[in-house]
Amino acid sequence: MAESITITDNRTGQSLEIPLENGGVSAADFSKLLPGVWFYDPGLTATAACESAVTYLDGDAGILRYRGYPIEQLAEDSTFLEVAYLLLNGELPTSDEYEVWEREITLHTFIHENVRKRFLEGFHYDAHPMGMLVSAVAALSTFYLDAKDIFDPESRDKQIIRLIAKMPTLAAAAHRFSVGMPFVYPDNSLPFTSNFLSMMWKIAEPRFEADPVLTRALDVLFILHADHEQNCSTTAMRVVGSSHADPYSATAAAAAALYGPRHGGANEAVIRMLTEIGSLDNVEPFIASVKSGAGGRLQGFGHRVYKSYDPRAKIIKKTADDVFAVTGKNPLLDIALKLEEIALSDEYFTSRKLYPNVDFYSGLIYQAMGFPLEMFPVLFAIPRTAGWLAHWQEMLNQDSKIARPRQLYIGAEERNYLPMGER
Ligand code: CMC
Repeated sequence: MAESITITDNRTGQSLEIPLENGGVSAADFSKLLPGVWFYDPGLTATAACESAVTYLDGDAGILRYRGYPIEQLAEDSTFLEVAYLLLNGELPTSDEYEVWEREITLHTFIHENVRKRFLEGFHYDAHPMGMLVSAVAALSTFYLDAKDIFDPESRDKQIIRLIAKMPTLAAAAHRFSVGMPFVYPDNSLPFTSNFLSMMWKIAEPRFEADPVLTRALDVLFILHADHEQNCSTTAMRVVGSSHADPYSATAAAAAALYGPRHGGANEAVIRMLTEIGSLDNVEPFIASVKSGAGGRLQGFGHRVYKSYDPRAKIIKKTADDVFAVTGKNPLLDIALKLEEIALSDEYFTSRKLYPNVDFYSGLIYQAMGFPLEMFPVLFAIPRTAGWLAHWQEMLNQDSKIARPRQLYIGAEERNYLPMGER
């Protein structure tokens, strides 16, 4: 027998049986019995806002799968570009499909000269690169007017390719501007991640040769950050996309959501926190201050969905060892390890199921690789673009409704306007 629940309106005694499907019950069915009674769910903590086949996450068991493939296997054997294809198309590419996909992305890495010369160079000299990225992605919509044709499959595919291809170029351009270095054009003889590193670090050498260990480590980090189902920024992408805005505008909104310290800004916050702690002796007093509420939160700990060790954090910890073997150990690592050790054996953190999340160790790697703190959220946005677009495309194919939640009004009753002199 199909599973169901029954709700009763105690005001009228009326009952309604609602089927339980894929772990959820339809709010539209609830509304049949309870018109005008809204679900109060700030932060959407108990609301499934869509059906999705992109990513599976079990926060209690610490499981993350893209299109059914365990994140551990993808991080071990795949590449970011292959994962992006998987997220967007639902299947891993054949070698022919991959060749076409990689070529298409490579052909779209350049940005219009006006985006760089007039738009990016117009920022204040100390502009945050994430702010520059958010604005530049939005500005791209004015360069590709066909982006508005969101129900034309050919146009949609083209914008998806453009966005994935141009994100690293915009990211590196924002960095070069913020440190006063000349812009480096994409080198399309290089694979995706090496090309990004070339645009970041190249100075006067004819060709930038990135260290293969560091390139692979960054590619793994890109895989781990590529999607995470209905997180804050993906929800922003879906909400803005649901109005049928073009994908550049929707991606800019998603990137803006990612900017905040509760989301993509957390890895930057972790480094600031570790730097502030400064030495192993200060770890215990810091933990005590977090517990008392005076020291703020333990950055890089806790997650809305994971109530066990974030599987991505486990992979990142191993990647950190590979990176530090090349770059030398990040001096903040020992503080991070001690913080983790104490927190994982402290009742305050265990009872609230607070474990290290993806951001706890990723910042240490980025810092060891030479990325400035301001670039950390930008490094998150590059791969997450693939996830955002996979969800955006899925939503458009589902004939979704415009996002328009209700509210519980708690403001003033009707009252009359008073002229200023009478207030
Ligand atoms: N340090 C100390 N206490 C915490 C922390 C933390 N990092 N996170 C949650 N708590 C406590 C919180 O004070 C509350 O305690 P109490 O019940 O006594 O009031 C309890 O745990 C539940 O917290 P919450 O705020 O209701 O949990 P949430 O699911 O709304 O928040 C979170 C999730 C990720 C925003 C939060 O854990 C946090 O602020 N973590 C630090 C920032 C961070 O690392 N963010 C990166 C998230 S992973 C990557 C990404 O999504 O971008």
